[in-house]
Amino acid sequence: MNDRELYCMAREAMKNAYTPYSHFNVGAALLCEDGTVYTGVNVENGSFGATICAERTACVKAVSEGHRKFTAIAITSSRGSASPCGICRQFLSEFGTDLRVITGDDADHLVSYTLAELLPDHFVL
Ligand code: THU
Repeated sequence: MNDRELYCMAREAMKNAYTPYSHFNVGAALLCEDGTVYTGVNVENGSFGATICAERTACVKAVSEGHRKFTAIAITSSRGSASPCGICRQFLSEFGTDLRVITGDDADHLVSYTLAELLPDHFVL
């Protein structure tokens, strides 16, 4: 699974985003160490604070299926590239900050960062 393939999976998943309030669709594809991929979308709620981001949807799906080791996450949005919000950065950091975060306006223009770069000195309990 290369970065482009993972990004394309996020792009495909994005079609399922539930966004009646913001109309801003986000898709994520999280690659587990064993090669399994879990996708996620943002799911909004009329009580806005109850909305869950695409990145956390993917992570929750993976963890609830028994996965805890992740190597990369691709993120895309209806406006092109998307950087994970602060809550998602912290949420993902629970499982390691070596995670590669891949985004870009399209599959031909990808950029990647480590989660450690995006969230230095993450909170640890
Ligand atoms: N959103 C995500 O899915 N991921 C992020 O990292 C930032 C924001 C969603 C939440 C909400 O449905 C919409 O984008 C606007 O904030």
